[in-house]
Amino acid sequence: MDIKSLIDKLYRTGGLSREEFCEVIGKRDRETEQYARDLACRVREKIYGNNIYIRGLIEFTSYCRNDCYYCGIRRSNHAAERYRLTEEDILNCCAQGYDLGFRTFVLQGGEDGFFTPEKMEKIIKSIKSRYPDCALTLSVGEKEEGTYRIYREAGADRYLLRHETADEAHYRMLHPEELSPEHRKDCLRTLKKLGFQTGAGFMVGSPGQTPETLAEDFFFLRELNPEMAGIGPFIAHKDTPFRQRPDGTLKDTLFYLALLRLMLPEVLLPATTALGTIHPQGRELGVLSGANVIMPNLSPVSVRGKYMLYDRKLSSGAEAAENLEELKHRMENIGCRIVTDRGDAAGWRRNPDKKSEVPEIQRNTI
Ligand code: 5AD
Repeated sequence: MDIKSLIDKLYRTGGLSREEFCEVIGKRDRETEQYARDLACRVREKIYGNNIYIRGLIEFTSYCRNDCYYCGIRRSNHAAERYRLTEEDILNCCAQGYDLGFRTFVLQGGEDGFFTPEKMEKIIKSIKSRYPDCALTLSVGEKEEGTYRIYREAGADRYLLRHETADEAHYRMLHPEELSPEHRKDCLRTLKKLGFQTGAGFMVGSPGQTPETLAEDFFFLRELNPEMAGIGPFIAHKDTPFRQRPDGTLKDTLFYLALLRLMLPEVLLPATTALGTIHPQGRELGVLSGANVIMPNLSPVSVRGKYMLYDRKLSSGAEAAENLEELKHRMENIGCRIVTDRGDAAGWRRNPDKKSEVPEIQRNTI
């Protein structure tokens, strides 16, 4: 089958075989890339209209017990400046965000033992009792089922945990021995089971990534059927073992965003900060390839420079929550509008009790 037919098949049937994914990823050209991106954009419009959802990202701790080779806040990076926000700081961020119109807060941080399940429970309950109309997303890494349960019962609605790569050997290239791909995938399944709207994802162009490892990623995501998917280019950080590795590219990221939209039509798909970092119009191009979420930074300005996952990470301009007007204009310029409801996934809104529902939309009506 030619590449365009495979792209059509992905959209029509919601999946491809590993071999077919490899072929699409390895053999596409400029024209088929554009074809996929245009189709993905139409699918986004069909499901979500011209709405773009915003999430206020609060990076509340830069301490991390893990030592992932790609990440600037890995524990071995002694050059990283570490900080933790207090509960009061976090609530202040939410207050500011609420006034700006945010109705989803994302608490993201390294795996920091300081924030025990009890401390997190208290923070989650405070946020949810002050802002019952808001969704709360956590992104704090791998925990035990009991801990996830505490978060969920305290009121957290969503959880982001990128699987990073679904290929075992590739996972081992990116992480030290104590981290395992099975555990990470188990965490994702547990999160789904507990009723979190769950997000997985990977970096584009991470060292060792190939069409085969990417085919595994798409295969895994198809099986997991997450409500959210986060992908962005790998960007080298100067104080990590991958300092010399080339960054992921814009073109690859846009193509994989498009494939994700085609495979999971209802997925909430951010145009990430990393995408905005490698190209000045990265976010717009992401949206024009099927993305429908943007996550501006709501952290206190004083710590923004310290949550450095990779070099040159943006935290000002349209990336900053306080510059929502600029972001609105930029989205209007491409025919989209920022909306401020909590923006649950379309399928979730239809049926919040059926956690693993396969999307019911008519795939072949475009
Ligand atoms: N480049 C791009 N993304 C990175 N992340 C971590 N380090 C980097 C990097 N160097 C991503 C990981 C992680 C998320 C919070 O940030 O995918 O899951």
